[in-house]
Amino acid sequence: MSLRTQSSLDVNEDDLRQISSESTKLVFEYLTTISERQVRAENHAGKTLAAIETELSGDGRPLDQLLAECRTVMDLSRHNGHPRFFGYVASPSTPVGAYADLIASALNANITCWRSGPAGTELERLAVRWLGALIDYDRDAKGLLTSGGSMANMIALLVAQRRKSGVDTSHQGLWNSGPPMTLYASEEVHMSIAKAADILGFGRDHVRVIGCDERQRIRVDLLRQKIEADRREGLRPFCVVGSAGTVNTGVVDPLAELAEVAAEFDLWFHVDGAYGAPGSLDEGKKHLFAGLERADSVSLDPHKWLYVPVDAGCLLFHDADAARVPFSTEDADYIKTHGYADEEAFAFWDYGVELSRRFRALKVWMTLQYYGRRRIAAAISEDIALAAYMGELVSGADDFELLAPVELSICCFRYVSAHSADLDQLNERIMEMVQKGGRAYLSNATVNGKFALRACITNFRTTKADIEETIAAVREAGELLTQRRKGAK
Ligand SMILES: Cc1ncc(COP(=O)(O)O)c(C=O)c1O
Repeated sequence: MSLRTQSSLDVNEDDLRQISSESTKLVFEYLTTISERQVRAENHAGKTLAAIETELSGDGRPLDQLLAECRTVMDLSRHNGHPRFFGYVASPSTPVGAYADLIASALNANITCWRSGPAGTELERLAVRWLGALIDYDRDAKGLLTSGGSMANMIALLVAQRRKSGVDTSHQGLWNSGPPMTLYASEEVHMSIAKAADILGFGRDHVRVIGCDERQRIRVDLLRQKIEADRREGLRPFCVVGSAGTVNTGVVDPLAELAEVAAEFDLWFHVDGAYGAPGSLDEGKKHLFAGLERADSVSLDPHKWLYVPVDAGCLLFHDADAARVPFSTEDADYIKTHGYADEEAFAFWDYGVELSRRFRALKVWMTLQYYGRRRIAAAISEDIALAAYMGELVSGADDFELLAPVELSICCFRYVSAHSADLDQLNERIMEMVQKGGRAYLSNATVNGKFALRACITNFRTTKADIEETIAAVREAGELLTQRRKGAK
């Protein structure tokens, strides 16, 4: 018997059939029971490891035991696809998206370039084009899929700086490229922008934080003043970032006005639409996104509001050549695409940080094609309508206060009680109680200095009844905590 036969990790056909059918059964069971579960099982640190075998097996363990442990892991997870999960920005994965990920993993293509993953590369370039067209950015958009919005934003800022520095920063480093370069974004911009400025060596202090109007949109007059002041001081403004759906309240900055400012001062214009850009598929919201098409680059996460499983972010450009500059691979002989021309020489490593890359496009492509544009748009419109409905319930109740207008699919509010002097603290405790109770899940935001309960509705399973039950859960927690406080006095 050959050594290879003994050591092969391949399995025989019967075992393969068992792995396939038993794993599929588990997925089926999960997807058909998710709505009946608690959003979050009663849990504490260490509970998962206490419930499974933690010794690494020497000779392997039977599949049925492993799948039983998988079930435990699933049971002890927070169910982001539950119809009353409204925390952060998390959408459920479509079933077809989940299976697409399985197919991609079975194929295990490495989408570094056309040569390594010819079919996957073509699919990714197609998916990128579709995403650009879907949000009316560019019917011929270029770009790449990323791990998420943070990575897309970071690549965008790198490209922006390299395009605007006027010096070969790639070789000479930032310290040889002249006075500090500054970028501009509102105080509501996502934290990944400051983090990217830190990682890329621009420095967090060179992210100029611009104040917002009463709707939490960037103040363009303040932006202009700050750019002019920085220029007078010899600094070099290079980029303005607009938000198309802020993480706290979901507002869209005045993108057309930002495009004007960018053109006037010769700045790169990046739009962070990681969460909100798909909101433009709703006819009633389309006007908010006017000017998006003038951005040099746009981030958009299919794993947020296009219901694709994590991870799937995307960075879009009009001009592929502009995006290529920072990622020259002239020193890396071993990956060069010798003997390939034009389309077949295409390499994603010219556009992003990663060399080895997952086949993310399959789940994006399969989700978009399975449902089609209209059904995806309808799901987004329903999320928007449900957020508006939650806003109406809150506004119409004496014991609630709406803290920000509902612009896309985020509703920020708080419970109010005449018996509580500290509403921030009360609402923080309400959030904790609701999260731990497992009926619904809200996260928080600070809105005009107030602690807000925040519901981000990016969930095709949510119904009006789920919104009503969530409000009821918050009200019950608020009443209980207020009673307890009165009792303690
Ligand atoms: C507006 C915005 N930009 C960027 C990000 C970062 O995305 P990711 O978590 O995929 O890195 C988020 C995350 O919620 C976001 O809401």
